[in-house]
Amino acid sequence: MSDITVSTDSASLELQANELARQLSLPFSILNPDQIQLVITQQHFEIRTPDLGNPIFIDFEAGKNAHRRQFGGGRGQPLAKAIGLKKGATPTIIDATAGFGRDAFVLANLGCKITLIERNPLIASLLDDALQRATDNLDLQQVISRMSLINKDAIHYFSTLENHQHPDVIYLDPMYPSREKSALVKKDMRLLHELAGPDIDSEQLLTISRDVALKRVVVKRPKLAPFIDDQKPTTSIESKNTRYDVYLVN
Ligand SMILES: C[S@@+](CC[C@H](N)C(=O)[O-])C[C@H]1O[C@@H](n2cnc3c(N)ncnc32)[C@H](O)[C@@H]1O
Repeated sequence: MSDITVSTDSASLELQANELARQLSLPFSILNPDQIQLVITQQHFEIRTPDLGNPIFIDFEAGKNAHRRQFGGGRGQPLAKAIGLKKGATPTIIDATAGFGRDAFVLANLGCKITLIERNPLIASLLDDALQRATDNLDLQQVISRMSLINKDAIHYFSTLENHQHPDVIYLDPMYPSREKSALVKKDMRLLHELAGPDIDSEQLLTISRDVALKRVVVKRPKLAPFIDDQKPTTSIESKNTRYDVYLVN
């Protein structure tokens, strides 16, 4: 994160941008198209990079998130089945690898209370900003009220939980090392990879998650990827390009 700066395109937001830079321990700078920058605009927080084209921001109100909310397939979609929603159950969930919050948003839409954990402060800022904006949208208020964000490392966070705070389900979608190598990888995923790097501690994260979850741990993987740490799941649920490995807790 050393070359990243915080900026704004609006003089009236300079104070806010300076404050955010201070919170993130990053320098504030003027707009610079040659740098990776977290930019506060009148509309939202966005990340601008020299090589990824259009800015990247999170929007729960429109675009892919809104589309998936409307047409995603409800409790019948593979993610919901893997989490265990089929019999009308609505478990408490911790999404320990929140990223852009897309999967968490799907699950919150299906009625689950979900805690999003994201360790990368820049990605957590984008998420926080998107959640706050969506709270002002009357249609989304209820859904967003089920989502809470924690900017911490999940492995550390889990080690501090009291027994009564353990969730029914822990959901993991760690960055898969080879995702960035494919030309087909979407640019927002490439940005996630550029900012967060590969998640080299996913073995440890899976192991502690299996100790903490009360009912199950679900791991999202590319369809042909090996199991994390060779840990064989109880079952797997597949969709077109994705596999959800489900580890039931005994
Ligand atoms: C592939 S992305 C997740 C995408 C997400 N499922 C979505 O729907 O947008 C993985 C994210 O998990 C975060 N992450 C990985 N390991 C973590 C950990 N131990 N604690 C917190 N966040 C973690 C990374 O910083 C990255 O943002």
